[in-house]
Amino acid sequence: MQDHVTTHQAQEDARNEEILIWLNGRLVPKAQAMVSVYDSGFMLGDGVWEGLRLYNGTWAFLDEHMGRLFEAAKAIDLDIGMTRDEVISALLETQTANDMHTDAHARLMVTRGVKTRPFQHPSLSQQGPTVTIIMEHSRPSIPRPIRLATVPHIRGLPMTQDPKLNSHSKLNCILACIAAEKAGADEALMLDVHGFVNTTNACNFFIVRKGAVWTSTGDYCMNGITRQKVIDLCHANDIPVYERNFSLVDTYGADEAFLTGTFGAQTPVGEIDGRQIGTGDMGPVTHRLRALYKALIDKEAA
Ligand SMILES: Cc1ncc(COP(=O)(O)O)c(C=O)c1O
Repeated sequence: MQDHVTTHQAQEDARNEEILIWLNGRLVPKAQAMVSVYDSGFMLGDGVWEGLRLYNGTWAFLDEHMGRLFEAAKAIDLDIGMTRDEVISALLETQTANDMHTDAHARLMVTRGVKTRPFQHPSLSQQGPTVTIIMEHSRPSIPRPIRLATVPHIRGLPMTQDPKLNSHSKLNCILACIAAEKAGADEALMLDVHGFVNTTNACNFFIVRKGAVWTSTGDYCMNGITRQKVIDLCHANDIPVYERNFSLVDTYGADEAFLTGTFGAQTPVGEIDGRQIGTGDMGPVTHRLRALYKALIDKEAA
């Protein structure tokens, strides 16, 4: 049996049993934070969400997260029923109520709300949206570089369910992850409709070849905020960076590979489809980008 690691693994923290959850304007103990079985998020995965991190009293890249949330809600024609400032106030209220100062992770979710009948039509959600914020004490604890496996599940075209949407329904990604786990890996490496390497089921994906950083064109993956920060850091620090198509051949032969996401920042990849990537450990460019990202966060939270 191979050991499994996930890209969102955090240290155990007993305080998380006592947290308060923001649920439609009320702060509710975790054990009592319930939504209806008629909720469109539960019933159909009809909602959008953001994952945010608290560093040293500051929610990192809050503007970008709010921008993406409201853009996604508009795209699925969902009225959040709150202004941007009201959503931020709810986040801060939850943080204060939980006495959190750093190393916290928030999952801010908005669904179309409770339905009058258990069917699909969006007009059945008549009570307004369900808005919740789960905020946990969270220190990533990923004990070794991630192992990826490519899977048959691909990133869809934008006219089906645009993979840019941070939708509640993540079934395609979940099936990809299950397939990767069954293949003995930790997470799935997903290809786009043309067979180019695109992203993983939960993080954005980068390779490093001859000192240059490559990532997909961005057409079929989440428009990751960490992804963009890494690209910007490369530009600002004279590290060649390309958003381009590339194949598994380029990927297996890479010197380094890493993942990006709000939770784990930059997570090294040690193996893909049974091929060791570089030395199998975190490479120098990943190291450098992690340090640059940490400095960016320190500046943001100063
Ligand atoms: C499929 C997928 N890719 C990538 C990301 C990373 O995005 P970000 O850097 O904004 O956290 C996420 C996070 O929600 C995701 O769900």
